[in-house]
Order: sequence, then C-alpha cells, then structure tokens
Amino acid sequence: MGIFKNSRIFVKIFFLFLIVLLLSVFSHVLVAQKVQQEFLRKQAKSITRQIVLTRQWIAGLGGVWSKDTYSKTHGFLSQYSEPSSDGNAAAVFYLHNPALATREISTLADIRHGYNFRVVSDRFREPKNKPDLFESKALKRFQTQKMAYTDGFQDGLYRYTEPLFVKQGCLKCHGKLDQDVKEPMKTILLEKYGQKAFDYKVGDVRGIVSIKIPQQTLVTLLSSIFTVWNVLIGVISILLFYLFTRFMIVKPITQLTHVANKLSEGQIDIDLGTAEIKFNTKNEISQLALAFERLRKSFEIMYRKLASR
Ligand code: HEC
Repeated sequence: MGIFKNSRIFVKIFFLFLIVLLLSVFSHVLVAQKVQQEFLRKQAKSITRQIVLTRQWIAGLGGVWSKDTYSKTHGFLSQYSEPSSDGNAAAVFYLHNPALATREISTLADIRHGYNFRVVSDRFREPKNKPDLFESKALKRFQTQKMAYTDGFQDGLYRYTEPLFVKQGCLKCHGKLDQDVKEPMKTILLEKYGQKAFDYKVGDVRGIVSIKIPQQTLVTLLSSIFTVWNVLIGVISILLFYLFTRFMIVKPITQLTHVANKLSEGQIDIDLGTAEIKFNTKNEISQLALAFERLRKSFEIMYRKLASR
C-alpha cells in the first residue's frame, strides 16, 4: 500500500481502471456462461422432443420391422419369416421396439459432431441402459418431485435429462399382461425377458432421456463475445481516462506546486492564473488555487507592512 501512497495519481487511476476492466470482463463471462447454458438447454430440449416423438411413433406402430437386416450389436426383439411360395429364399423381418430403436439411433449420434443421447432406466433389462451417477440422481428427483428437466456442466460436457413418461402406446408391450399386452407380443416378451417391465401405467416415469453436448471452452466463449470493437472501446476508454487525469487533475496540481514553490522562495508577485476562476467554483483544484491566491495576497500585505516600517 505504501508504494501506492507515494505513486503518481495517474498510476493509481490506471490501476483502478484495470481493476474495473477486469471486473467487467468477469461479469461478461458470467453473462456469456448463462447465455450459453440457456442456448444449450434449448438445443437439448429440441433433441429430446425429437427422440420422444420418434419413440412415440415406433410405440404407436407396436414397433417397426426391418426386412432382411438388423444391427448385429443391438439385435432385434422378434423375427418373422415370410413363407416362400416359389422356392426362393424367404424374406426375414426383424422387429425393433422403441428402446432398441433409440439405442440404434443413438450410436449414430457422435458427441464429436454435436451431441450424444441415450435413454436409461433404473430398472433396465439391457445393461447399456444402466444410468450413471448424474442420470440416476436425475431419475430419483423426477420420481419424487414434479420437474421438467435437470441440467448442469460436468467434465467439459453440458448434461441434460428429461423424464420419460409412459403413454398409451407403450402399454402394448409394458401394460397389464392379461389386458393390454396381446399375442404374439406377449409370448415374445415373456420368453425374452420374463415377467419384467409390465404393469406400467400411463403417466409413470419409467426412465429418462439423457443428452450430452460438448461445452464451449473459456477461450472460445471469450472469443465469441469479444470482438475487435470491444478492444477498440477499451483503448478509447483508456485514452479518455488518461487525457482526463493528465489535463484535469495532474497538470493543474503540477502548476500549483510550481507557483507554491516560487512563493516559498519569496517571489510574491506571481500570477496564479486565478482571474478567470469564479469565487464559488465547485472544482476542488480551483478552490485550492483560490486559497493559494489568498495566501499570496496576505503575504503581499505583510511584506508591504514590513517595508513601510
Ligand atoms: C414393441 C414393444 C414395446 C413398446 C411399444 C414399448 N416398449 Fe419399452 N421396451 C420394450 C422392450 C422389449 C424393452 C427391453 C429391451 C430393450 O431395451 O430393447 C423395453 C425397454 C424399455 C425401457 C427400459 C430400457 C431397458 O433397457 O430396460 C423403458 C424406460 C421403456 N421401454 C419405456 C417405454 C416407453 C415409455 C414406451 C412408450 C413410448 C415403450 N417403452 C414402448 C418393448 C417395448
């Protein structure tokens, strides 16, 4: 602090300006982060909407069939071979249920190219649908409180989750066994998964949609908000501060110091340049100059009295 006490006014003001500048950059970054989160949330919401719609479409159809092909890594729920009438090889159809189709589509979405998603459940049949810590926390919150979504940043990623509600179409495969689930689906599901995942009710939270989007780094964030214009405004502000300090504060004080020195050397007929200053001025430095002028005048009177003795 001692250094600051003895340093030039300009240095003090410059440091003050620097602190204000840094605080303003910091507040800009906070705002940009908020805007980024808002933007990512909107993006995640619309991705989720698309996933939910796709699943609803597949559920409405009772699953979708592919002819002769299916993904080797994901498999299929059921298969059906068309009877061959002319001796050629029969076409084979494979059934894709919503959870399976979601997994198949999600492997196409690469995080390096924008985003990644999956549907997870606490009572998963498929190990790939096991939730991680962020997801199981979100799922628990959705099951206990009414919340539209949860989100946050983790390991350079924006993470977003939304509850997945059971709709009427889901009951074809998840409803009451003796009422909603019809043959042949009933046998297929019972054979493949046993009694699991039935008795869902419309409105239940059965799982969550989980989205991951890469977060912008601080550098890209800063370069997205600060342009050459901001730099220019910064330079102009520094210049204005410099000119103000130099000509409105430092220069008049230096001049006053100069005349005060002369006064101390006994030179009492100097012009302090106070002729143009109004006596009721609000400028503190002008007030100081007027006080000096009064001091000078009383010196003058004193000298004259001394000389006339
Ligand atoms: C055509 C039958 C079918 C329909 C319709 C269906 N599901 Fe499923 N669902 C399954 C099967 C089979 C599984 C387990 C295997 C898997 O994940 O592919 C499953 C799994 C799930 C899972 C857990 C993921 C897992 O691995 O266990 C959730 C959650 C789920 N379904 C919710 C729904 C919702 C919500 C709907 C309605 C939009 C729906 N399902 C419609 C057949 C279906």
